[in-house]
Amino acid sequence: MRLRAEGLAHAYEGLEALGPLDLVVDSGERVAVVGPSGCGKSTLLGLLGGLLRPSRGRVLLEGAPPEGSLVPLAYVFQDFALLPWRTVEANVALPLEDRLPPAECRARVRAALARTGLADFARAYPRQLSGGMRQRVGIARALVVEPGVLLLDEPLSALDAQTRELLLEEVLALTAGATLVWVTHHLQEAVRVADRVVLLSARPGRIRAILPVPIPVGERDRPAALAELARLERELWELLREDARRAETALTVGAADAAT
Ligand SMILES: Nc1ncnc2c1ncn2[C@@H]1O[C@H](COP(=O)(O)OP(=O)(O)OP(=O)(O)O)[C@@H](O)[C@H]1O
Ligand SMILES: [Mg+2]
Repeated sequence: MRLRAEGLAHAYEGLEALGPLDLVVDSGERVAVVGPSGCGKSTLLGLLGGLLRPSRGRVLLEGAPPEGSLVPLAYVFQDFALLPWRTVEANVALPLEDRLPPAECRARVRAALARTGLADFARAYPRQLSGGMRQRVGIARALVVEPGVLLLDEPLSALDAQTRELLLEEVLALTAGATLVWVTHHLQEAVRVADRVVLLSARPGRIRAILPVPIPVGERDRPAALAELARLERELWELLREDARRAETALTVGAADAAT
C-alpha cells in the first residue's frame, strides 16, 4: 500500500467540503476520481499531497504524513500553473533547483524535456506555446522529480478534444507503472486511464461507489474493449446523474442569488 486516507474530511471555514472517507491506493495503481462539480475532488488531491491539512482523519504515504514523506509527490494542474516569466526549461527545473546540484538538475530537466517532446522548446516561454504544449511542460515538471505518486487535477480539461486524445495516450505511456490519482469530470477519460474509478457523492464528497476497470490499460483502445468501457461509463453516469443535476441546480441558484 502506498497511499491511505483514513476517516479523511475537510471543511473550509465551516463549509463541509469533503468526506469523511477511507481510500487505499496501492503501489503502481491508477485511481480516477469522478464526482459532481464542487464535491471536493481538488480538496481530496490537496489533502493526499499534503498541500492541505485535514480537518479530520489523516493521510499516510508509505506510513508517514505526506508533508513529511520521503516519497516524491508531483501535481499536474488543469490550468498548467506555469510561471510566464520563466522559460520552459526553467519551469521544469522549478521543483529540483533548490534540491540538486545545478549539473544534475540540468541533466534531469533535459531528460524530462526529451521524454515529453519538448527538447526544441527549452528556451521558449509559455506564451509562445499551444495549450497542449503548455500542459506537456506541466507534465515534464511533474516527471522531473521522478514521483512516487502523481496527482493529476483535470489535466486535460483545458484542451480541445483532439489534443486531449493525443495527450491522454502520451500521459498513459509516460506514466506506465506509476501510482496515480487522476481527477476528472470526464467519465470516458476515467475509464480509459484507471484501474479503479472512485465515484464521489455531491459535497461533502463521500465515496458512493468504486468501479474496477477489468481491462489492461494497454488494451483499452481495442475494439473488443470499447463496449465494456462504454458500459462502465454508462454505469458511472447512472450513479452520478442525480448528484450532478443537484450540483448544477445549486450553482444556478447561487448565480441567480449573486445577480440580484
Ligand atoms: N480555499 C477555499 N476556501 C473556501 N472554500 C473552498 C476553497 N476551496 C474549495 N472550496 C469549496 O469547497 C467545495 C469543494 O471544492 P473543490 O474545489 O474541492 O471541488 P471540486 O470537486 O474540485 O470542484 P470542481 O468540479 O469545480 O473542480 C466547493 O464548495 C468549494 O467552493
Ligand atoms: Mg476541482
